[in-house]
Amino acid sequence: MHQTEKILVLDFGGQYDLLIARRVRENGVFAEIKPYDKITCDEIEAEGYKGIIFTGGPNSVYDPASPHYDPKILSLGIPILGICYGHQLTAYMAGGTIAPAMGGSEYGKTELVTDPCALFEGVPETSVCWMSHTDRVSVLPKGFRIIARTATCSCAAMADEGRKLYGVQFHPEVTHTEYGTAILKNFLFGICSCRGDWMMDDFIEKTVAEYRESLAGKRVLCALSGGVDSSVAAALMHRAVGDRLTCVFVDHGLLRKNEGDEVESIFRDGFGVRFVRVNAEGRFLSKLAGVTEPERKRKIIGEEFIRVFEDESHQLGKMDYLVQGTIYPDVVESGKGDASTIKSHHNVGGLPSVMDFEGIVEPLKTLFKDEVREVGLKLGLPETLVRRQPFPGPGLAVRIIGEITKEKADTLRDADAIFREELERAGVRPSQYFAVLTDTKSVGVMGDARTYGHTVALRAVTTDDFMTADWTRIPYDVLEVASRRITNEVKTINRVVYDVTSKPPATVEWE
Ligand code: XMP
Repeated sequence: MHQTEKILVLDFGGQYDLLIARRVRENGVFAEIKPYDKITCDEIEAEGYKGIIFTGGPNSVYDPASPHYDPKILSLGIPILGICYGHQLTAYMAGGTIAPAMGGSEYGKTELVTDPCALFEGVPETSVCWMSHTDRVSVLPKGFRIIARTATCSCAAMADEGRKLYGVQFHPEVTHTEYGTAILKNFLFGICSCRGDWMMDDFIEKTVAEYRESLAGKRVLCALSGGVDSSVAAALMHRAVGDRLTCVFVDHGLLRKNEGDEVESIFRDGFGVRFVRVNAEGRFLSKLAGVTEPERKRKIIGEEFIRVFEDESHQLGKMDYLVQGTIYPDVVESGKGDASTIKSHHNVGGLPSVMDFEGIVEPLKTLFKDEVREVGLKLGLPETLVRRQPFPGPGLAVRIIGEITKEKADTLRDADAIFREELERAGVRPSQYFAVLTDTKSVGVMGDARTYGHTVALRAVTTDDFMTADWTRIPYDVLEVASRRITNEVKTINRVVYDVTSKPPATVEWE
């Protein structure tokens, strides 16, 4: 198979590094993000990148704390596109001058006037771009010419066409830049001469071949949660090592209705994977008895998960490798060492460090979520699993407010299944949607009798990243059917409310 062509996204601290990499990959070119201080010029050269994109960043190049790079990078013969701070840094490294933007800063949609050049092939002379900067290139470096301007920014883009060095002050990666996609395409194909043939088929074939060789004769363990990432990782590793893979699925009794059976049937019956299902409902519920505090619930579940896993692995005998469903955004986020962006509560399902593995296998660690989904579908996982909404590790424990009992979990499971069914029937697909069993009881009337039953809250949010979220505007008649069915079909529920709070100030989950 031919060498995978790749683009380096050199990160100078901008908030758009992942987005830039996504945009590149959407064009069939593999993109890798590296923090600027984690890769040297020599390493860049050795990796054989077809092109380099410098990201934006919050700094000013003259600030002593600002991220800089070895100017030798401009002479490697690899095309470069600097974006925002990356544009200014390119100018600075090449001998130009940076100054504060005229009028303080420029922010938002701006009219861009471009000159004909390879970067703007097919881009009209005037179009809209997205600006967000406080500095600008005031004196061009030698060898460069201005190729675009706005009313307040005389150097909105520059080029040294001989060396294939380009800089744009605006952000081509955001959708507000009308011709942003065309500009990135011009860079990838016109300037870097990429082929754009990076496909998930290649990825599967290459990964399977790699692990077939490196894990020859090894026993491999996978903790399967039923979520998208661990399921796809398991299916991929199964193709690589076959029977030497064992999947352990811990059913803590706080899964959604029929979820455990579905996962088991897909993997055991469908794929013929060696599959161990541990039914540990009793263990978990007895540890959780009487506990009402949300973080305590999470901690208990996390710890008990490890204990169950340890017990199980003793029975399975020595395993050499552990598979984890880490995906690219996890790697990039943790590489930045910025704890504020990583949710500690996502560690539930983490495994005991005392377990003695030769190593960890993370077959999806270069992929974005939608690429993981594509791989899953190509491997033959069902659409329902691959498109599944996120489900928290502690499961229904954080959706039952107050004390958890089996009866409450069963009640919630029924209400939740109805709500999901009605949304799916109506073709409404929020990013995440579920029911919450509140600890409020209220008075109702059914037939001629007074009732005193549980209140269930329905929650549905629309979001890209789950860091912020908007409540989903579900049509009233869909809510009406869900509410009527829940109160009719779930015995102890006599009141249904819909949560109309966004995040912030609320969170997606209630606990
Ligand atoms: P919040 O409630 O923090 O949720 O707005 C954001 C996203 O994270 C999920 N979530 C969790 N996932 N373990 C997980 O694996 C947890 O403890 C946990 N808590 C929240 C939540 O479902 C949503 O997708």
